[in-house]
Amino acid sequence: MKIDILSVVPQLITGFFDYSILKRAKEKGLLEINVHNLRDYTNYKHGQVDDYQFGGGAGLVLMIEPLANAIESLQKKTLYDEVIFLTPDGEVFNQQMANSLSLKNNLLLICGHYKGIDQRVRDHFITKEISIGDYVLSGGELGAAVLADAIGRLIPGVLNDETSALTDSFQDNLLAPPVYTRPETFRGWKVPDILLSGNHAKIEEWRYEKAVEITQQKRPDLG
Ligand code: ADE
Repeated sequence: MKIDILSVVPQLITGFFDYSILKRAKEKGLLEINVHNLRDYTNYKHGQVDDYQFGGGAGLVLMIEPLANAIESLQKKTLYDEVIFLTPDGEVFNQQMANSLSLKNNLLLICGHYKGIDQRVRDHFITKEISIGDYVLSGGELGAAVLADAIGRLIPGVLNDETSALTDSFQDNLLAPPVYTRPETFRGWKVPDILLSGNHAKIEEWRYEKAVEITQQKRPDLG
């Protein structure tokens, strides 16, 4: 899979991909992530990519020309399954969306900044609009990093133990059950006996029951 990201501040996220789990995905050749600088695609002086909005109002808007130029240049090299704009008024991202996007071959993520991007870009180039939550960030970069991480870890082979993504919280609309590791007892606080029993069928049953219980307690809306 290839994820291309277009941003006015690529420095914000390039480091993240060099240290996260996605680094291993890149090294294994399972995932390619490229962050492109929008300023490399502008014909305006001094790398200008934004301007005041027509009709007045505070805040700069990313101009259509550099964005159209960048998107079309990237599209000449890659056939994208989706061109995604990160925006607080998009569809709120969740695990199901991560699952379905992880099945795609190529994604282009567009990060907005300032007051937003010229509406004509959204009308003519964007195929999907995604928000990472009901709050406003100063740009789409963190959203792009969230998407790339959530999607990237689902690509078969990226996680060491492939089944571990299947037992994540939110798969099957259940939160994950509690997990424990050594020591068996710490300050008298014991690991549940069932987990030490070696009875795998019973352990799976216990985990499922705990997942249901925790989901009902913490996120009854998921059930
Ligand atoms: N850009 C600004 N706020 C955002 C949000 N909540 N989700 C995605 N992109 C954004």
